[in-house]
Amino acid sequence: SADTAPTPRAELGVIGGSGLYALLDDVTEVAVDTPYGPPSDSLFLGEVAGRRVAFLPRHGRGHSLPPHRINYRANLWALRSLGVRQVLGPCAVGGLRAEYGPGTLVVPDQFVDRTSGRLQTYYDGLPLPDGRIPEVVHVSMADPYCPDGRRSALAAARDNAWEPVDGGTLVVIEGPRFSTRAESRWFTANGWSVVGMTGHPEAVLARELGLCYTSLALVTDLDAGVETGEGVTHAEVLAVFARNVDRLRTVLFKALEGLPTARDCVCSHALDGLETGLTGV
Ligand code: ADE
Repeated sequence: SADTAPTPRAELGVIGGSGLYALLDDVTEVAVDTPYGPPSDSLFLGEVAGRRVAFLPRHGRGHSLPPHRINYRANLWALRSLGVRQVLGPCAVGGLRAEYGPGTLVVPDQFVDRTSGRLQTYYDGLPLPDGRIPEVVHVSMADPYCPDGRRSALAAARDNAWEPVDGGTLVVIEGPRFSTRAESRWFTANGWSVVGMTGHPEAVLARELGLCYTSLALVTDLDAGVETGEGVTHAEVLAVFARNVDRLRTVLFKALEGLPTARDCVCSHALDGLETGLTGV
């Protein structure tokens, strides 16, 4: 009966950003609850190149959740609970250099957290589900993104004749407002490449669960500090994203296909030797 049907599982996950509210054809919709509350939406399970993929619209379908209201802990937990171990995180960003104009694809290798007040850890000292008090857990974030995931994303973009920017720093602001010109110029002066609102704590929470996480940052505007930039509107962000969403989907499919089937990256070893209380699920 429907009551005893096993929950469908997936190995790969995609958390879609502004303008990417559906990814896969032929999906099974799965509502997942978590100890942290409900994720942004149902998870949509399908297949890409023979691999089971779960898609989650980051802002909910219809874009009802602003970046600071997203339950990032529930989102990553929900994906992991279905078996997902590798996550791609496409997002819309502003370019912080004139040469990173709209339509540029950046695969960052670092981020800077300029958010405030977001719940950004699973390891907040509360008792484990079995009642034990956990050890204090500090995960390494020196290299926040999966090297295998980045390699696959870069190769997928090049295969699609979309020369990506390999590396760079994504500065994540609290939002939901955009940056002042002074803030934006300061980001540029620090050598940072692109600015967004959702990259943190998404990458941190993935790492805390031992998941691989790769950011694919699509530039939708030149942020307010770049001289040629006019400042930015949400309508502009959505319009540019919409113009690029087909090739982004193609790149995501190819990147998923290229993810290794066995993991031995820094992410897969993030929890080695730590008493996290996470089970095998
Ligand atoms: N997302 C898209 N463009 C952005 C910008 N300029 N600043 C912050 N987040 C963004």
